[in-house]
Amino acid sequence: MDGTLAQYLVKDLIVKDRVIRNRMVLAPMAGLGHIAFRRLVSEFGGFGLLFTGMCNAKAIPHENPCTSPVFKWQEEELGYLVCQIFGSDPESMAAAAVRIEKEGFFGVDLNFGCSVAAICKKGYGAALLKNPELSSKIVKAVREAVSIPVFVKFRTGWENNPLSAVNMAVRFEEAGADALTFHPRIAPDRRTRPPQWDMIRLVQEAVSIPVFGNGNLFEEKDGIRMIRQTSCQGLSIGRMAVARPWLFSQWTNRFVPGNDIFHQTALRFSYLLPDHFDEDFSVRLFKKYAPYFCANFKFGHQLLKKLVRAQTLVDIRNNLASIFESNPETLSRPNINLFL
Ligand SMILES: Cc1cc2nc3c(=O)[nH]c(=O)nc-3n(C[C@H](O)[C@H](O)[C@H](O)COP(=O)(O)O)c2cc1C
Repeated sequence: MDGTLAQYLVKDLIVKDRVIRNRMVLAPMAGLGHIAFRRLVSEFGGFGLLFTGMCNAKAIPHENPCTSPVFKWQEEELGYLVCQIFGSDPESMAAAAVRIEKEGFFGVDLNFGCSVAAICKKGYGAALLKNPELSSKIVKAVREAVSIPVFVKFRTGWENNPLSAVNMAVRFEEAGADALTFHPRIAPDRRTRPPQWDMIRLVQEAVSIPVFGNGNLFEEKDGIRMIRQTSCQGLSIGRMAVARPWLFSQWTNRFVPGNDIFHQTALRFSYLLPDHFDEDFSVRLFKKYAPYFCANFKFGHQLLKKLVRAQTLVDIRNNLASIFESNPETLSRPNINLFL
């Protein structure tokens, strides 16, 4: 990598026949990457693409965006929004992709990485990595059904074997994927052990399509290290973007956060949520975000307890005011023990 991280990240990347002006993207996160959170991130800017949390492919063809908590977007984000779907049936994955293309999304992302038991038990997400033939069929079916870019997100697999990850990557490319996001952890690991970034290099070397490296990118020096170590074409940021939604702008636009950024951002989020969800659901979504937010502070566990003692958004705003009255000490690197 020559030059600064920003110079590397703010550089065109071609995915299929579309240009992304910036190589830093928001990873798909169920329960976190919803419309209100994406608005928060969009207000800071600095990213190339945003991904939705995973949506059930079977529901998408008849889903109503007015009532669905996940299949919901703002017109203005469609140009940089990729909708992620999960499922195991090639036909329903293709049907979902057709609706996603019709609605005007930038692309569709296929989930081959989720290792949550409820998803894998049904044969979805990372469970598909045990069945390479079916995985290929899914990607092929989606590829044939749409002309928008097709992304695949996957992880190492079920055993710590770089060859199986490389073989899957090649398979995905052959089946018609236009870009991959690779999270180098085996499924039973979830997020406990550190991701093995060297595997990202093997995957990127094995395919000619762009690979977004993912896993434990917290500070700019991590971004630089991942690019140097793996030659991946882009960075996919998950939890750290929840903790600091201005991270994209900081890494790519040299945005310098002010002293009140933490308070102002959490407060702003508490106002964006009810634009899209009812009060109870907004409070629930704020509580999902709260651990990542509190990880920014020394004694974050205590702040978290205080922050989530709330029934309403007004309670949350009052709790924020009282927390920031005491000037909590921020950490340069968030306490990842608070990251779920
Ligand atoms: C709460 C939560 C929900 C997630 N939901 C999804 C999902 O819907 N689809 C997916 O492919 N990955 C999902 N992931 C995994 C992230 O996309 C990402 O791979 C993981 O958090 C590692 O990246 P990070 O270290 O930057 O957070 C989720 C992660 C978290 C923490």
